[in-house]
Amino acid sequence: MTGLHCKIYLPAAVAAALLCAILVVAGKAAPANAQTKPAVAGSVPPGLPQQGKLIFDNTPKYARLYVGNKLSCNDCHVGSGTADYSAPMIDLAGLFPMYSKRAGHVISLENRIQECFTRSEAGQPPSVDSATMKALVAYIDWLSRNGAKAKPYQGRGLVKLPARKGNPEAGKAIYAAQCASCHGENGFGMPPAIPALWGNDSYNDGAGINDPAKMARFVIHTMPQNSPGTLSPQQAYDVAAYIHTQPRPKFNPAYKIY
Ligand code: HEC
Ligand code: HEC
Repeated sequence: MTGLHCKIYLPAAVAAALLCAILVVAGKAAPANAQTKPAVAGSVPPGLPQQGKLIFDNTPKYARLYVGNKLSCNDCHVGSGTADYSAPMIDLAGLFPMYSKRAGHVISLENRIQECFTRSEAGQPPSVDSATMKALVAYIDWLSRNGAKAKPYQGRGLVKLPARKGNPEAGKAIYAAQCASCHGENGFGMPPAIPALWGNDSYNDGAGINDPAKMARFVIHTMPQNSPGTLSPQQAYDVAAYIHTQPRPKFNPAYKIY
């Protein structure tokens, strides 16, 4: 792992672009728009992994008991958890158990999934031995089958961005021009086709993406969905700051251990 890739948004964009161009020529980095790892192509094995993918792609329908909004895992972990820099599931299983700063202790992959249920899904955690959990883990295990254990996938997590302060007023204009056509003027989207960015059908205020910096890092690489990569870092922070001013479900503090 070199840790150096083309998706670091430096202020010196030109220098970064040059560096990336050199790396691409040298064959050391994937093209900037590479979305999926070839190894994940192909059909998901029947049984648990396939059930897991169904749940991942349409969580409110197939994991109804545990979901409090209308978001699917796939709405944030795009491409059924395979798209680079939208926190993909590829080669992830072997990294667990790992220390979690938010939980303050070592967590399993199941615990991490429970976190996303209580926060991003505004719902309740499926138990470790539930059918829902077993299927999701089987799918993530399958997406991790080619990776070296404990070696992070190069497109893991979100892109890095320099710290900036977002301006919600500027973000409001960006939202109207570049996001509202899909996510709606009211931010409610059209679930399941288009996810809600705020309101009752969206993630709660304990979710990772409720942090404007994380939202900016997601948005700059993955949105607008029809022209990703076109926002500047400042625009990504601005639109994230605007979304952050909007109402959403409250995190249940009973789930703080997740
Ligand atoms: C509203 C957006 C959203 C939804 C919906 C969501 N997640 Fe997440 N998830 C995130 C974010 C943001 C992170 C943290 C990424 C980071 O900081 O690198 C994350 C992290 C994770 C991780 C750890 C990834 C890593 O690299 O360590 C797992 C596993 C995970 N989510 C599983 C799920 C599952 C399974 C579902 C559906 C039941 C789900 N998530 C739904 C936003 C979401
Ligand atoms: C062409 C339609 C379209 C446009 C325009 C668009 N999005 Fe999205 N957005 C989607 C879809 C569809 C998803 C679900 C993931 C996927 O399939 O790519 C999504 C997912 C998201 C998510 C994660 C899920 C959630 O509900 O929180 C965020 C955040 C987001 N978009 C923000 C934005 C922002 C900010 C803009 C404007 C800069 C934008 N989107 C523009 C279609 C769009």
